[in-house]
Amino acid sequence: MKILVIGGGAREHALVKSLSMDGEVTALHAAPGNPGIARYASLHSCDVTVPDEIAGLAARLRVDLVVIGPELPLVAGAADAVRARGIACFGPSALAARIEGSKAFAKEIMTAAGVPSARSRTCHTLGDVGSALDEFGAPYVVKDDGLAAGKGVVVTSDREVALAHAAGCRSVIVEEFLDGPEISLFGISDGSTVLAFEPAQDFKRVGDRDTGGNTGGMGAYSPLPWAPIDLVERVRSEILQPTIDEMRRRDTPFAGLLYAGLVLTSQGLKVIEFNARFGDPETQVLLARLRTPLASLLYRAATGSLDEQPDLEFSAESAVTVVIAASGYPGEIRTGDEISGIENAGALGVVVFQAGTKTENGRLVSAGGRVLSVTAVGVDLSAARDLAYRGVDAIGLAGSIHRGDIALVAARDSLSKG
Ligand code: AMP
Ligand code: GLY
Repeated sequence: MKILVIGGGAREHALVKSLSMDGEVTALHAAPGNPGIARYASLHSCDVTVPDEIAGLAARLRVDLVVIGPELPLVAGAADAVRARGIACFGPSALAARIEGSKAFAKEIMTAAGVPSARSRTCHTLGDVGSALDEFGAPYVVKDDGLAAGKGVVVTSDREVALAHAAGCRSVIVEEFLDGPEISLFGISDGSTVLAFEPAQDFKRVGDRDTGGNTGGMGAYSPLPWAPIDLVERVRSEILQPTIDEMRRRDTPFAGLLYAGLVLTSQGLKVIEFNARFGDPETQVLLARLRTPLASLLYRAATGSLDEQPDLEFSAESAVTVVIAASGYPGEIRTGDEISGIENAGALGVVVFQAGTKTENGRLVSAGGRVLSVTAVGVDLSAARDLAYRGVDAIGLAGSIHRGDIALVAARDSLSKG
């Protein structure tokens, strides 16, 4: 099978690496890719926000499958353009990707499907925002309706800060604060059948102990030793399948990766958001544990034949990934700093996925906010996180930042429970 992967982040690096280990794959291409992905795939330049460029590249390369990583091309209609050329595509249509692209649309689907989520109001004036803030009370949750790379949400107890964020958004959702641990759970669907991955937890705030601004994700781990044992099956049957059924009922079937961002509240599981693609950095830890060959899994989802797919298999090991970000992230970042130590980290047994990197005069330099995602596997979370942090220590990048507490609480709690 010849495959083209669209995107150039750590998530795509992880996808390409897993695909390269699948014996069914005969050729791998990526656009735009990155220097880490270049080890496994031929890179092609392409404006991934233009659906026809992606479809044209796929046709020229005569690939059997296109896998679309990021949300922007999906929302722009890349999957529709690829399918229009008769090429299988892993990723939802533009209409189905609205489940991520518009939070108001996602709410509408959840209500129709009977999926539990935070109570919310879509607001069109600052007056509406004020009354919604008063209705739900503090802490206030204010969201920009459109795509914002994880940075469109403000959670604050300061009413003025909440109102100021709302004033800067095009269309605003105010919702009830959900209290409890967050869980990311992926469903893979062909539009009808949906299979669930194991859960992961992501760390969205930039600073240790969840301080500072929201980011795209600073680290992740899987499995979650503290999660209820029926979690995966409950999320599959009570959240993912009803959502997939509702999308099909509306003639906008969702084929691709349906990512449920959940909170385990005292009143049960509630959805915070859906994403229409693999999460980053959760993908790095989940693929490290996935034993099911990835290429045929994605191909079946892309071609309506997931009913032939056996349940997904995961190793019993734990995986932890720590993101190394550029100085200033998630605000104004510094780029162009030399990156060293990737080989030394690799020799320790970690995998260093690349995101915001590029090669300049033969040197690897930083070129984005999230630069690297250092991933380790171990017999338990403590072993995996110890190894991941040894990998982080081996990397040199001037001014870089990372969180020191990825998987810390879960590793401690599971140790003390034996
Ligand atoms: P989102 O862009 O919807 O994923 O939100 C980003 C982050 O903001 C989430 O991962 C949560 O940490 C936080 N957040 C969003 N909505 C809520 C909510 N209703 N209650 C509590 N925290 C929230
Ligand atoms: N890790 C959060 C996301 O991918 O949106």
